Amino acid sequence: MSMAFTTERIAAAADPMVPRVARLRRRRRDLNDVWTLVLEMEDGSDLEFAAGQFNMLTAFGVGEVPISISGDPAKAGGGLVHTIRDVGFVSGALARLAPGEAVGVRGPFGVGWPVAEAQGCDVVILAGGLGLAPLRPVIYSLLANRRRYGKVALLYGARGPGEILFRSELEQWRRLLDIELHVTVDHAEGDWHGSVGVVTALLPKADFDPDNTLAMVCGPEIMMRFGVGALRDAGVSGSAIYLSMERSMKCAIGLCGHCQLGPAFVCRDGPVFRHDRLGSLLSAKEI
Ligand SMILES: Cc1cc2nc3c(=O)[nH]c(=O)nc-3n(C[C@H](O)[C@H](O)[C@H](O)COP(=O)(O)OP(=O)(O)OC[C@H]3O[C@@H](n4cnc5c(N)ncnc54)[C@H](O)[C@@H]3O)c2cc1C
Ligand code: FES
Repeated sequence: MSMAFTTERIAAAADPMVPRVARLRRRRRDLNDVWTLVLEMEDGSDLEFAAGQFNMLTAFGVGEVPISISGDPAKAGGGLVHTIRDVGFVSGALARLAPGEAVGVRGPFGVGWPVAEAQGCDVVILAGGLGLAPLRPVIYSLLANRRRYGKVALLYGARGPGEILFRSELEQWRRLLDIELHVTVDHAEGDWHGSVGVVTALLPKADFDPDNTLAMVCGPEIMMRFGVGALRDAGVSGSAIYLSMERSMKCAIGLCGHCQLGPAFVCRDGPVFRHDRLGSLLSAKEI
């Protein structure tokens, strides 16, 4: 191997616009149109990340999209985990990858969830649909350091019983005595005997001290808007509510302006934002 080639490779590795190559270790179908992919970096390295960060994933020859990391931040060697809904060209190509096939990875990018700041507080996690995926690393982190936190409530809403993500893990978490779990569906069907209605209706069931609570909210923007309203009504301060925003992205490093949200760039300043810092943007059309 020549010195020039080595230098080029080092330069490429340091360039945040150049994807590194990973390979699909395995994939699991979670829902009809949702797959969880476990990737491993071709060079054998572990990609360290914070809960709430995302990667830009390339389906070679198709395109690149931002996808949150849904695995355990503390699990070195566990592979790089992403949960993807097949909504279009790139997400569909990623969802259809076969084991061993190559994927491009840039990242991790962005500001994650305030897992450290939440220490000593009660924690309310409000998730809708696929919004549970970017919050799953938070749940792993809280459970791994459970004594550092007060009461923990996970409130999850899905469209129907067949749309409940990570169902077997939710069952495991439900059996734990130190996390309160409530699940609701918009429309009941089959043998569903649980709650029916919007996820915000679960909030009165949760036990937390609003004066000492940190809330993390992720889901469709309409759900987040109502979620924030319900948390505020319950007495949680805007400075203690965090949301993860989605905008279309190109560079993911704050250069191109594609993801601009008022004065902020979602890729660089988010995707996780404190509610009171989003300010008037929250009354804008999309949230
Ligand atoms: C920070 C961040 C994190 C994200 N994390 C995840 C994740 O963990 N898992 C995941 O599956 N997706 C995630 N997304 C969304 C994902 O990036 C988009 O779904 C993807 O870019 C769609 O590209 P595509 O080429 O497959 O679809 P396109 O061909 O571009 O779009 C196909 C159709 O789907 C619609 N569409 C595009 N994006 C979405 C969307 N997010 N929801 C619903 N409809 C959409 C388009 O309007 C279009 O009608 C994230 C986005 C951001 C910004
Ligand atoms: S995606 Fe380019 S600035 Fe955010």
